[in-house]
Amino acid sequence: RKVVLAYSGGVDTSVCIPYLKKEWGVEEVITLAADLGQGDELGPIKEKALKSGASISLVTDGKADFVKDYAFPAIKANALYENRYPLSTALARPLIAKMLVDAAAEHGADAVAHGCTGKGNDQVRFDVAIMALNPNLKVLAPAREWGMSREDAIAYGEKFGIPSPVKKSSPYSIDRNLLGRSIEAGPLEDPMTEPPEEVFVMTRAIADTPDEPEYVEIGFTQGIPTSLNAQALDPISLITQLNEIVGKHGVGRIDMIENRVVGIKSREIYETPALLVLIHAHRDLESLTLTADVTQYKRGIEETYSQLIYKGLWFSPLKAALDAFVNQTQERVTGTVRVKLFKGNANIVGRKSENSIYTPELATYTSDDQFDHKAAEGFIYIWGLPTRIWAEKTK
Ligand code: ARG
Ligand code: SIN
Repeated sequence: RKVVLAYSGGVDTSVCIPYLKKEWGVEEVITLAADLGQGDELGPIKEKALKSGASISLVTDGKADFVKDYAFPAIKANALYENRYPLSTALARPLIAKMLVDAAAEHGADAVAHGCTGKGNDQVRFDVAIMALNPNLKVLAPAREWGMSREDAIAYGEKFGIPSPVKKSSPYSIDRNLLGRSIEAGPLEDPMTEPPEEVFVMTRAIADTPDEPEYVEIGFTQGIPTSLNAQALDPISLITQLNEIVGKHGVGRIDMIENRVVGIKSREIYETPALLVLIHAHRDLESLTLTADVTQYKRGIEETYSQLIYKGLWFSPLKAALDAFVNQTQERVTGTVRVKLFKGNANIVGRKSENSIYTPELATYTSDDQFDHKAAEGFIYIWGLPTRIWAEKTK
């Protein structure tokens, strides 16, 4: 058996290498480290996999695909799980699954593997995405079965020359990519405990934010963010620069109790500065460019879309069908949104679009008003008719 293993360089995925070989009789382990902008040095990770027993150590840059093919569709759908979490971790999983499946085909592997535990969402997302892309591949999840504590895993790894973590290991479990950071475990397991400042990296504490507000103008083209302050930017630069600007003002933190796919409630801290502001700005531009009925109908689609990303159904017929709807709605969502950042707030203070359907001569309260006030009377007579009849028959 030849396996492609999703590799992060951490203890758990490193231990998976000798474990797969010694305990499960895998002949060859190829590791794949996906660079999605987690900021790790990839050279040492590549080396570490080989030292831990991998036959080939792949490092693949997925940043551009991640933003274009995963983050941007989610922004078009204003995807927020349980109305709050912009799915920064969840969106990375189907891409990593695709990279694993592609690498397995290229290297003639008959299985892929990951280091997820049996309690999380990520195992569901990996397994389901992999089976959607290639139902003939076997998925191995050693950490779901080995029953080792973290100390056990470190001790096991040491037997095979995997160094134990040098720094005192952090009590937190952290997942990071270009879109944000997810932090859980340790003291955060008590829902009443405030997250200590040390868990945040991308967003400043309010006490340290600038004392002057900063404005940023985000340009969208057919629902996709394409410029900042009138400067056209490629997807990676746009996210990177906006993370910096927004994080500096302490915007983008989320602290929530969320419902996992496996039925567990978990306390999660997120910091997703750019993604959160992009979703709010995008939704605002939609309010200027979409009709009332499309805007309102789309809310239900957005809820379903968020759920399917969270629950691992990125590669599914429902997702494809919803994409068709969402993309159709985005045709005219082009324009600019002005955001004011100050002391932890991102307020939208202006928006404009060549496709605006806001009509000043109907909205105005001045003498320019062209709305036919008298027409309202007949409308209300008919609109209120069922209520009048009901009142007459029952009162
Ligand atoms: N709960 C989040 C999700 O399911 C993040 C989980 C990521 N892992 C972590 N080690 N914090 O998308
Ligand atoms: C894990 O348990 O492997 C990470 C957390 C998650 O998937 O939700």
